[in-house]
Amino acid sequence: MAARTLTFSIFRHDPQGGGQPVMQDYQLEETPGMTVFIALNRLREEQDPSLQFDFVCRAGICGSCAMVINGKPTLACRTLTARFDPPHITLLPLPGFELIGDLSVNTGKFMRALSERLAAWLHPQDGAVDLHAVEASMDPDLADRLYEAERCVECGCCIAGCATAQMRDSFVGAVGFNKVARFALDSRDSRSLDDFYHVIGSEDGVFGCMSLLGCQDNCPKGIDHAGQIAYLRRKLAFSRKVWRLFPA
Ligand code: SF4
Ligand code: SF4
Ligand code: FES
Repeated sequence: MAARTLTFSIFRHDPQGGGQPVMQDYQLEETPGMTVFIALNRLREEQDPSLQFDFVCRAGICGSCAMVINGKPTLACRTLTARFDPPHITLLPLPGFELIGDLSVNTGKFMRALSERLAAWLHPQDGAVDLHAVEASMDPDLADRLYEAERCVECGCCIAGCATAQMRDSFVGAVGFNKVARFALDSRDSRSLDDFYHVIGSEDGVFGCMSLLGCQDNCPKGIDHAGQIAYLRRKLAFSRKVWRLFPA
């Protein structure tokens, strides 16, 4: 069978250089097993060295290559071009993040600010870390739940697919809820969910979420955002901090 000719319509814009964004078309012959990531590298090597996009691992692990592919936020290195028939592929940068240029956005800046806002690092039970102490054992079911949350690669697809995050910059979003759930569950961390009430117990947190689950539909790691948001909502609704507002 003859190889297909793919047409790529790619968003082009240099925010530093000014000018208006444009969609630029490129054509490329498809090869077996081609991913959007492979196609972009070929386009940059063979046709246009000025094309900007990000990647590191090529294996769905670093989260760098996320972009909007034919309307869906997802990872370019995990998307086969064979999926698209007719072979016309439109590529846009993820919305909701600072644009660096073309398909490259600054998810790192966003994720760092979010981690600082949520204090998303381990707060040990006794305050001090003893590197010589024997590691405490953890319930295997709890370890599995932590591992599940740790699979997030901070790609930003859940934010790009979230209407609330697009309307409100201060919204924590599913990637942040996942971080909170991870640390609130961890038996080594001194914090409980109550300690996160000030960051996610409001319209900027789980009570501003519209539950349309764009996060779940677009998460390339298949994280159970629906279950996690429901769990956080239920727990926070019964938080000491809420009931303190209604003294007996
Ligand atoms: S369910 Fe909530 S967090 Fe997920 S996309 Fe919708 S508003 Fe955003
Ligand atoms: S939760 Fe999923 S979509 Fe969101 S940043 Fe993590 S891996 Fe990406
Ligand atoms: S290049 Fe790392 S996730 Fe695609």
